[in-house]
Amino acid sequence: MKQQGDNPTLWSWCLLVTITIAVGPVRSQQTDRNSTRFAIACSQYKGMSEEYLATNLNTTLSSLRRQLSTNNVSYATSRALLNGDAVWGLASCRGYVSRPDCLACFDYAVSQLRSSCGSANGAFVFYDDCDIRYENRNFFAESTVRGGSLQCSNDSSTQETELRKAADGLLSDLRTAVPKTTNFYAASTRGTVGGNLTVYAIGQCNLNLSQSDCAGCINSRYISLDTCLPSVSGRSMDGGCFMKYSITPFFRLDQRTDITPLLGDGDSSKKGAIIGGVVGGVCILFVVLAFFLWRSRTKKSTSSQLDKSTGSTVLLQGPARYSYDDLRKATDDFSDENKLGGGGVFGEVYKGTLRNGDTVAVKKTVMAASTRGNIHIDHELKILCNVHHRHLLRLVGYCSKGPHLFLVHEYMTNGSLDQFLYGDNSKKLNWRQRYEIIYGTARGLAYLHEQYHETIIHRDIKPSNILLDNELLPKIADFGLIRLLPEDKTHLTTKLPGSLESAYVAPEYAILGQLSEKVDTYSFGIVVLEIISGKKCINAKDEESDNQSLLDQAWNLYDSGMHLKLVDDTLDPSEYEPEEAKRMVEIALMCTQPTVSARPAMSEVVTLISEKSFDEMPSVKSTFHDDDVKIQVGDTLSSLSSDATGSTTQVSAR
Ligand SMILES: *[C@@H]1O[C@H](CO)[C@@H](O)[C@H](O)[C@H]1NC(C)=O
Ligand SMILES: *[C@@H]1O[C@H](CO)[C@@H](O)[C@H](O)[C@H]1NC(C)=O
Ligand SMILES: *[C@@H]1O[C@H](CO)[C@@H](O)[C@H](O)[C@H]1NC(C)=O
Ligand SMILES: *[C@@H]1O[C@H](CO)[C@@H](O)[C@H](O)[C@H]1NC(C)=O
Ligand SMILES: *[C@@H]1O[C@H](CO)[C@@H](O)[C@H](O)[C@H]1NC(C)=O
Ligand SMILES: *[C@@H]1O[C@H](CO)[C@@H](O)[C@H](O)[C@H]1NC(C)=O
Repeated sequence: MKQQGDNPTLWSWCLLVTITIAVGPVRSQQTDRNSTRFAIACSQYKGMSEEYLATNLNTTLSSLRRQLSTNNVSYATSRALLNGDAVWGLASCRGYVSRPDCLACFDYAVSQLRSSCGSANGAFVFYDDCDIRYENRNFFAESTVRGGSLQCSNDSSTQETELRKAADGLLSDLRTAVPKTTNFYAASTRGTVGGNLTVYAIGQCNLNLSQSDCAGCINSRYISLDTCLPSVSGRSMDGGCFMKYSITPFFRLDQRTDITPLLGDGDSSKKGAIIGGVVGGVCILFVVLAFFLWRSRTKKSTSSQLDKSTGSTVLLQGPARYSYDDLRKATDDFSDENKLGGGGVFGEVYKGTLRNGDTVAVKKTVMAASTRGNIHIDHELKILCNVHHRHLLRLVGYCSKGPHLFLVHEYMTNGSLDQFLYGDNSKKLNWRQRYEIIYGTARGLAYLHEQYHETIIHRDIKPSNILLDNELLPKIADFGLIRLLPEDKTHLTTKLPGSLESAYVAPEYAILGQLSEKVDTYSFGIVVLEIISGKKCINAKDEESDNQSLLDQAWNLYDSGMHLKLVDDTLDPSEYEPEEAKRMVEIALMCTQPTVSARPAMSEVVTLISEKSFDEMPSVKSTFHDDDVKIQVGDTLSSLSSDATGSTTQVSAR
């Protein structure tokens, strides 16, 4: 389902991993930078298009440099996502490095990456003073690259015992202190007992790491550096952190961090304390766990009435199997009064009240379980029942009776999004509510695609499948249901009752049957345009629109820089920031690009939406190359058969 070549998880480092053996003492910044190179690696994969990759890489690198030079920071991240060849970049200078040296190191590193890695879609290089890394995916919060590397100097100290003691104590303190500092960096020194040596050491984590990831990364650097002793210097790095010690000064004494307040109880037997802490922590954990188990048991046996009202125990159970009788009673024999909405691809939906008082939505589907067998259905239902996310409609249970499969969902008081956007529902959504619906829907989809243990592609994202709870936050309905259908019924060409609404379906899926997560990205983009404009995608026709679809209108307005005009004119312009509104349109357009690989993954969409600062927004290309499959998104769709081939299909998505 994923495309080959640009699959980020397959991304692997190799080939050029060169470890510079010599650890020369860094006497001053005048030292040849090259001699301080620690590790360099290039991805074995090229970008899909050298041109796009180069453009994105340049955008990312120049943004990193700008941040380092004008923002006076020693850590910067940036990314460019244009045209599918995404480049996520990170640059970091050690805390003791001055601004000019940081920039010099950065420039040197960039030149080395360019000459060594060419158009590889990922690379990193580590020097003593700085490191740079880029990849085709978001790696900022990751702390490890293949377990890291270590280098020890060949020279050993004659004062072995003293050095060992001082260096180990210092490094151990640093690993405790670094995660507790605000900038994840600490530098400190320690003299040998009665001796004449001073050990200099630093530890540093990437700022995007969580505190616990920083602690884990630094701790493993400490453990590996300890094996260097009694070498006079050593350095160790991993994707998320860097640690170094040397008996030769490499920072000034006035650049030291005061780490004593960060060392907790500050007693001399820190190892003992840590072990004690871990053992103690585990014991406490057991006690807490035992208490919870005991409590939940007592609660279950004595007060299950109580739980029902909050639904908390139900949450922890697997799918409930309801009897047909229960559901019949709950829905008043599936009466018309209880019917919700106009039904959908999968059958009618009824509002029901279970015996315990819970209100639910019961979907009566015509899915005959026989085609692929009950085992299959049971398995799929188990998978679907275990999806728990605040923006995904929970499947509470089911019931199988004859040719019918009944699905019991949580009930959403506010119905579906389409009623708000263009139904007769007089309620209108304000800008903030629309924003939250877009954001929540994106997060729900990202969960289905990337975080749930099984990738679930929805394939039918549209406003009527986005339900709103009593706070008007979205919950996506009907995910995974298409998987319950027999294989031969899943394609659009089949005459399913109320079959998938073509305007929301990605062209490559509609015509070629090519399924990927990007199919949902596309539909999501269309829905975003509808949410922003308050218009229906195929019904947007008015005097201005010239019979264009909503998507065409959006592209045309974008081309002339007028895309703010797309925003629903019933909204009060004081409610929203024009920049934010424009940005949302741009995100929608990115999602609906005809080139599948150019559409962002839903997790990237989540990042784009949530970012408050818009200066790194990649521009959207509205002009496409000849080799793009251009497909009509319109009424003729359902008549096209699935054996249409890519090379001959030349319709326009614009
Ligand atoms: C360190 O030792 C290794 C292996 O013994 C050797 O290849 C390398 O040249 C030495 N480096 C220096 C700077 O002496
Ligand atoms: C940089 O150093 C590496 C090994 O330390 C060496 O192979 C490479 O040729 C050097 N490059 C330059 C430009 O000096
Ligand atoms: C990217 O930057 C490099 C170096 O500055 C330059 O040679 C190259 O032409 C740029 N590529 C693009 C596509 O802008
Ligand atoms: C940059 O920041 C450092 C501390 O992080 C500070 O000492 C220095 O004065 C700053 N430089 C400028 C130009 O603001
Ligand atoms: C440091 O002390 C050791 C003995 O403890 C001695 O051999 C060495 O010469 C001293 N080094 C310096 C630079 O004073
Ligand atoms: C990474 O950290 C930077 C600076 O601390 C922050 O601006 C950015 O949002 C973070 N990015 C991610 C993906 O966490």
